[in-house]
Amino acid sequence: MNREIIKISHLSTRFDDRLILDDINLSIYENEIMVILGASGCGKTTLLKNIIRLYHPSDGEIEIFGKEITRLDEIEFNDILKKIGVLFQNGALLNSLTIGENIAIPLQQHTDLPEPIIQRVVRKKLDLVELGNAYSLFPAQLSGGMRKRASLARAIVMDPLILFGDEPSAGLDPVTSAGLDELILKLKHILKMTIVIVTHELASIHRIADRVTFLEQGKVLFTGSLQAAKKAAIPQIQDFFQKGRF
Ligand SMILES: Nc1ncnc2c1ncn2[C@@H]1O[C@H](COP(=O)(O)OP(=O)(O)O)[C@@H](O)[C@H]1O
Ligand SMILES: [Mg+2]
Repeated sequence: MNREIIKISHLSTRFDDRLILDDINLSIYENEIMVILGASGCGKTTLLKNIIRLYHPSDGEIEIFGKEITRLDEIEFNDILKKIGVLFQNGALLNSLTIGENIAIPLQQHTDLPEPIIQRVVRKKLDLVELGNAYSLFPAQLSGGMRKRASLARAIVMDPLILFGDEPSAGLDPVTSAGLDELILKLKHILKMTIVIVTHELASIHRIADRVTFLEQGKVLFTGSLQAAKKAAIPQIQDFFQKGRF
């Protein structure tokens, strides 16, 4: 078994009086692709936001690379954050900057690398996502799928060890979505990243998932391999694999 990269223990999160995450226990191992599943509103995004400390848990612990992050100070946590790439639901590239400029931002903000090196890294990442020709284009000049790949290039420009994707293929057509999955697999196999993806798409789950975690109303219903999930005698999970939705 590979090393545990993220270990979540007894994590609970409340907004006002509502319990949104309820005693979550979950481990994520080095170089696996973990897919998080569950109906809209069950807490998937909230879980990711707890891990990157955009939200704070009301209870429990989150270890990343063996460090308990909920109690780290800002400087220590920023060191961990530098090793995490995040691809948000709507990818948010800045429209007034070129693709190349957008992707350079994390390097300019978080490193002392000289500009020519930054440009070289940016071009390498654009090649990796097969957007070598888009360096000087603006986001509005790109298709939805290309924008998504540009956002992915930005998420990985610092060579993170962990990549989070919150419904990265939402709104993409099946072919474009399959292309994005190919890239995600490339990041796993070539760059050895540990990848955590929220998605509902069965085709995508079959292409990329090593393990899946089903959430229901803030609780973990199941964690395990895709094969085990399909065999699990849990009606909601059987339902999902048959109908492709919750
Ligand atoms: N910042 C917030 N303040 C209050 N409620 C929130 C906040 N973020 C999420 N929620 C609530 O938490 C629940 C889970 O949301 P979310 O994690 O976004 O679900 P999912 O990503 O699984 O669709 C929802 O009921 C949502 O309204
Ligand atoms: Mg969400």
